[in-house]
Parts: sequence; C-alpha cells; structure tokens
Amino acid sequence: MILSSSIIASDAACLGAQAREALDAGVDWLHIDVMDGRFVPNITVGPFVVEALRPLADETGAKLDVHLMIEEPRRYVDDFITAGADIVTVHVEGCPHLHRILTHIRSRGAMVGVTLNPGTSLAAIAEVLPDVDMALIMSVDPGFSGQKYIPESTEKIRRLRGMLNQMASRAWLQVDGGVYAGNIREVVRAGATVVVAGNAVFGGASIADNVQALRDAAALEA
Ligand code: DX5
Ligand code: ZN
Repeated sequence: MILSSSIIASDAACLGAQAREALDAGVDWLHIDVMDGRFVPNITVGPFVVEALRPLADETGAKLDVHLMIEEPRRYVDDFITAGADIVTVHVEGCPHLHRILTHIRSRGAMVGVTLNPGTSLAAIAEVLPDVDMALIMSVDPGFSGQKYIPESTEKIRRLRGMLNQMASRAWLQVDGGVYAGNIREVVRAGATVVVAGNAVFGGASIADNVQALRDAAALEA
C-alpha cells in the first residue's frame, strides 16, 4: 500500500517541515490538492507549491501527486507539469474532452490520473481506464479535508477493482477522503493500492504516531 499524505491538512506556515516529517515517518507520496473556488467551494494552492516541494521529492524519492479540482484543467496542466508534478489527476466532471487531456498529460511526460466525484458513476471513466496510470475514487465530496468517509465508497472501490482486474490493468487504484486508522483496512481490502490521508496524517499531536497507526491498521488481519 502506497500512502500519499494530503498537504492540505498540514500546518501551512511550516509546510516544508511537515511534509518532510511525514516522509521521514514513512509516507510515500505527497498529495497536493488544487482547488479553484469554482469546481469546489474552496481555494488552495497553485503550481508554485509543487515547485517548492520538488527538491524534497527529489531528495526522498517521493512522488508529487497533484489532484486538480478546478474548472478547465486543460488551461493549467502544463504549468503543474513544468512545476514538477509526477502524477496529474483530473476530474471527469471538469473535462468534456477527457481522452484528449489525458493524452496531453502523458505527452508532456507526467503520469496520468483520472477521478470522479462520489455522485458520478464509474461508467464515466470506463472508456479511459486503459489510458491511465491511476484511477481515483473520491470517498468524500471534494473541497475540504477532515470530512467523513462516505460508506458507499467501499462498494465502488470493489467494483473499480473488478474492472481493472478484468482488463489486467496495473494502474493504481487511489482512494481519497476521510480515510483514517478506523477504515483504512476496509479500503485496502476492497482493492485500493494508494491511500490518501490528510487529517489522519497531519492532525493531532504526532505525525510519526499517526503514520504508524495507519500502517498498523492497514496491515491488520481482518
Ligand atoms: C478533498 C481532497 C482530499 C482530502 C484529504 O477534497 O481531495 O485530498 O482533503 O483529506 P482527509 O484525509 O482529511 O479527508
Ligand atoms: Zn485530493
């Protein structure tokens, strides 16, 4: 299981230090949530944050996993790739020409991710699954860290796992939103290979203890 920590939940006044602490504690990737106040009701960061984290990613081998929750992502994907994104994930709801943008991301040398909101059917991404390195199930309505995991997501993860297995796809299955030590095992057992955690990594007193708790819970025998 790859653990990707969502920096939206970190203390922004010491972002670099907190990101390093999470990586030192055993997190694998840094998940960067980009919000524009239009596609979702919140505004976060732009390419400059990806650029600022790039040296840390190079030093540690972490991937910069950029989740675009913005309208017209085609206008900005180049900027994020130039800034150093390893993986760029776009929402099907924001992309009328989904295949075109995924092809473009790959042509620019980044890995390709696709995602969908909780209210969107898996059928909306079925046609592009052969073209992606990662398919992301949103397990909260995007916009904020610290929301509650939507229980129906587990069944959706299972169905996507079935679709990927059937086509012998080696794409990562990522799950994002409301994952914590109390449900991470369920998420992994349903078929997730990459788990995003924001609050469960950066909330509370100790990032190291948080990461250990997630790892222990994910490894528990059911
Ligand atoms: C939701 C974001 C998530 C989320 C993760 O819009 O895409 O990455 O904030 O944070 P937690 O794990 O706290 O739900
Ligand atoms: Zn995210």
